[in-house]
Amino acid sequence: MACQDYPVTTNIEWLNRAYSADGLPALRSLYDEWAASYDSDLSKADQNYVAPALAAATTAKYAGDLTSLKILDAGCGTGLVGAALANLGAKKIDGVDLSQGMLDVARKTNAYSVLETCDLSKPIEKNTDAYDVLTCIGTLTHAHVGPEVLSEFARIVKKDGWIIATVLDDIWEPVGYRAEIDKLVEANKVKLISADSGDYRKGAGVSARMVVLKVLS
Ligand SMILES: C[S@@+](CC[C@H](N)C(=O)[O-])C[C@H]1O[C@@H](n2cnc3c(N)ncnc32)[C@H](O)[C@@H]1O
Repeated sequence: MACQDYPVTTNIEWLNRAYSADGLPALRSLYDEWAASYDSDLSKADQNYVAPALAAATTAKYAGDLTSLKILDAGCGTGLVGAALANLGAKKIDGVDLSQGMLDVARKTNAYSVLETCDLSKPIEKNTDAYDVLTCIGTLTHAHVGPEVLSEFARIVKKDGWIIATVLDDIWEPVGYRAEIDKLVEANKVKLISADSGDYRKGAGVSARMVVLKVLS
């Protein structure tokens, strides 16, 4: 399921390696290694990774009061999204990620109730209708997790719940994320509320779609 066939070069060597990783074990090792400096690397001016804060604000805009909502942060990494959601009042956030090293950093945010390893390219070991909201930021990307996971996200989220995800502009159509969402819309599983392009790694001039889906069944 990983989307590996769309080469790209960025202004940060860690991401170049992540985006060209040869299989899941290599990707997992890379993130285990990157975990210690990930947050500081991406906060530098030439990166200014604004997607987590923007995603949290988007979640609050659509889902409303976050206090009592059960949220799954899929591909949570070091917990930037969970921390941003907690700042906006969220109290019930679980996180899953491929890399134990990233999860170890996420634990230190104290934003998450449960943190577990998980391979999002396989069926996700979560009950149907288990969450009110699912966030997936920075993980539907080159050589990471492909579009097929979106139907799993729609299964895990309750009716009238929300999926908030980023997809880089350069792979939105070529790698099939848009087509997968169109299929879910046609099947009446989700309603596409918006997929506007906006800042992502703002310092590097990289933009992404902020996808907002309402789950219908
Ligand atoms: C660029 S980071 C984004 C992390 C976090 N959401 C953020 O915005 O900072 C991508 C994350 O996806 C995770 N990842 C990559 N492939 C995965 C997979 N198949 N299943 C679960 N997580 C995966 C990596 O371990 C990494 O933590």
